[in-house]
Amino acid sequence: MPGFEYSEFEDTVYTPYRRVLVTGATGLLGRAVYREFQNNDWNTLGSGYSRARPRFLSCNLLDEEAVRSVVHNFQPHVIVHCAAERRPDVVEHHTEAALNLNVHACATLAKEAVAGGIFLIYISTDYVFDGRNPPYGENDAPNPLNMYGKSKLEGEREIIRHCPGAAVLRVPILYGEVEKVEESAVTVLWDRVQEGAESSTIDHCQQRFPTYTNDVARVCRNMAERALQDSSLRGIFHYSGKEQMTKYEIACAIADAFSLPSSHLIQLTEQPAGAGAQRPQNAQLECSRLELLGLSVEPTVFKSAIRDSLWPFLHDKRWRQTVFH
Ligand SMILES: NC(=O)c1ccc[n+]([C@@H]2O[C@H](COP(=O)([O-])OP(=O)(O)OC[C@H]3O[C@@H](n4cnc5c(N)ncnc54)[C@H](OP(=O)(O)O)[C@@H]3O)[C@@H](O)[C@H]2O)c1
Repeated sequence: MPGFEYSEFEDTVYTPYRRVLVTGATGLLGRAVYREFQNNDWNTLGSGYSRARPRFLSCNLLDEEAVRSVVHNFQPHVIVHCAAERRPDVVEHHTEAALNLNVHACATLAKEAVAGGIFLIYISTDYVFDGRNPPYGENDAPNPLNMYGKSKLEGEREIIRHCPGAAVLRVPILYGEVEKVEESAVTVLWDRVQEGAESSTIDHCQQRFPTYTNDVARVCRNMAERALQDSSLRGIFHYSGKEQMTKYEIACAIADAFSLPSSHLIQLTEQPAGAGAQRPQNAQLECSRLELLGLSVEPTVFKSAIRDSLWPFLHDKRWRQTVFH
């Protein structure tokens, strides 16, 4: 069957434990979610696509038959749907392909979830809001500014339309353990920080709330475990880091975390014309719903989490000794 081979994962089928399927398990967030469940007594199946082999199952989420087959064979109690095209500028230029993944694959998974009585968590984004009137509660009206935000909002609607018992978890800009720094809009600043000799202008207009993937992963597990006991857990949830920073301030905080100079970093206080897809000015998420339900986690301090995320990329090993010992 195209996009799906199951044989080497058969040993994970029909075990008596709680089973979770994590889509996008090769990606930035999916890796953390997969690890979180696997380390906490869940029978965990991760699916990816181009990077799936050898560790994960390769399943093209655009192939409805392949998705159906994975779900029927593994029979998860929970699906955490992380896979998406999350780069706004790519979505703007390759809209049809992005819509197939960000919207249509949601409908496919949601139909499978409802048919199998599976609790589905769909990861969405603060970019569903226009950023003009923060903070945003779970019930506030979305108004996405770019195609990425629109596609994720459409994805939310498809999820809830086909699977009313599903949960949507909106999160802001993410960072965590990366295979390469370009994987996250936070860690990509690392090269600018390390190029100490070259001055570098960085956005100092838009407010961001960098959020650690390990924290989001714990929230997903909290939600999954609660949902197994309480089927009324459903609808929209927000989770976010609490430290508010512009990209310029994020770069300075990274420099500080590694005791590196930041004097070469320069604040860019005006948006240059034609700088890619429009982004919200401040889409701060208000996260009280998870907190009231006791499902939130205290966000890890940025300075500490960014060190854990970026230390493998430190060029100068003497700094590593200074910082960590
Ligand atoms: N990153 C952020 O700052 C951020 C912020 C807010 C919300 N989010 C949301 O968080 C979720 C995770 O984002 P992320 O940053 O972890 O994304 P990512 O690192 O770009 O990973 C994307 C994942 O989607 C998979 N994928 C792509 N095309 C596929 C296909 N046709 N079939 C199956 N899988 C496919 C990729 O698999 P392969 O790589 O193996 O092809 C990869 O595992 C997304 O829903 C995103 O919208 C992210």
